[in-house]
Amino acid sequence: FLFQPFAFAQYEPNYDESKVPEFKLPDPLKTFSGKKIRNAKQWEKKRRPELLNFFTQNVYGEVPGELNISSVEVVEQSNNALNGKASRKQVELTFKKDNRSLSYTILMYLPINVEKAPVFLGYNFYGNHTIANDVNILISEAWSRDNPSFGIIHNQLTEQSRGVRTNRWALDEIIGAGYGLAVIYYGEIDPDKDDMSDGVHPFFYVDDQQQPADNEWGSISAWTWGLSRAMDYFQKDADVDASKVIVFGHSRLGKTSLWAGATDTRFAGVISNDSGCGGAALSKRRFGETVWRINRSFPHWFCTNFKNYSKNEEALPVDQHQLIALIAPRPVYVASAEEDLWADPKGEFLSAYYASPVYKLYGKEGIVQKEMPGVNRPIQNTVAYHIRTGKHDVTDFDWEQYIKWADKFVK
Ligand code: GCU
Repeated sequence: FLFQPFAFAQYEPNYDESKVPEFKLPDPLKTFSGKKIRNAKQWEKKRRPELLNFFTQNVYGEVPGELNISSVEVVEQSNNALNGKASRKQVELTFKKDNRSLSYTILMYLPINVEKAPVFLGYNFYGNHTIANDVNILISEAWSRDNPSFGIIHNQLTEQSRGVRTNRWALDEIIGAGYGLAVIYYGEIDPDKDDMSDGVHPFFYVDDQQQPADNEWGSISAWTWGLSRAMDYFQKDADVDASKVIVFGHSRLGKTSLWAGATDTRFAGVISNDSGCGGAALSKRRFGETVWRINRSFPHWFCTNFKNYSKNEEALPVDQHQLIALIAPRPVYVASAEEDLWADPKGEFLSAYYASPVYKLYGKEGIVQKEMPGVNRPIQNTVAYHIRTGKHDVTDFDWEQYIKWADKFVK
């Protein structure tokens, strides 16, 4: 028992830069077998596929099959939302297989004066009705984590939480800048709990299978699947410019937006807001949340194979800068918050920096300086980064930067 307190202390979260272990970051431009990648063609032919495959099989998990939209229903629509500045549309996508059925609703606000709008697409944590003070937004019946301060008890979303997250979605600014906003409640695709019998996962089980195979999808991958099916829908919606959809996510949903950008090249831009461990942050730094912590607290987020790297980051032949590199040459924005040490702002910055050589292969400018920029001093290139004052959250400051950057690199 002398050994135990030591072992425990060793895995307390580290917030001390001087205690970051020495580590070697795998080079995005060298293949697993040691071959140097010299141009975009070699990257796309050799390196990108092997990296994508590694992240698929060992981090997020493979989607076990195809499941396409069975039907689309516009359940509500108005041309007079936000004081006449926007149209609103609530579109339910339904998926059917054998005797299973799954539906989720995309809530869209589109600027009234734009014919085919570029769109920010993002998941929300507590239902579409939380993102705006709009009585017309339908309340999801899907399971929710309780949050008594939003009146969410017994896992049910209710009227009481309407508009409670307006602060996280700068809707007026987004519409005013000529973009649409499309949101989905992530719990409709897969409830965020360690239970693989609900959501989309069981659609592919054979016989009495209870959970995905070790290399198959965890919840992040399932949520990502949902974003791609929303993209399938956008490609058929005449009101949306499907070539200009920017996928956005905060925190666990930022991990999700990065994985969506990596796996689905139809996304024209990607935003990771405070995504941290398993998102933008480098795992090998073991700063704040670690692979072991995240696999222990959220065993359902990643595939089972990822557990091989708990307390074993040095064995990972990849790191998260390569996840960002998989998005190249499309624009990607990584954002951190000064007080959000759990998500390791420096590790998030370094990821963006070390992904940049891949952007360079395409003649795109990434992050060129290795020093972190000052607080509230965004660097906006094809790869963009900022660290703002404040906590783990999404603020108006964040959205102001995303819009500016999107105007320049996506719109
Ligand atoms: C927890 C978790 C993080 C995650 C965050 C969130 O803090 O440890 O990895 O990003 O929740 O989603 O808000």
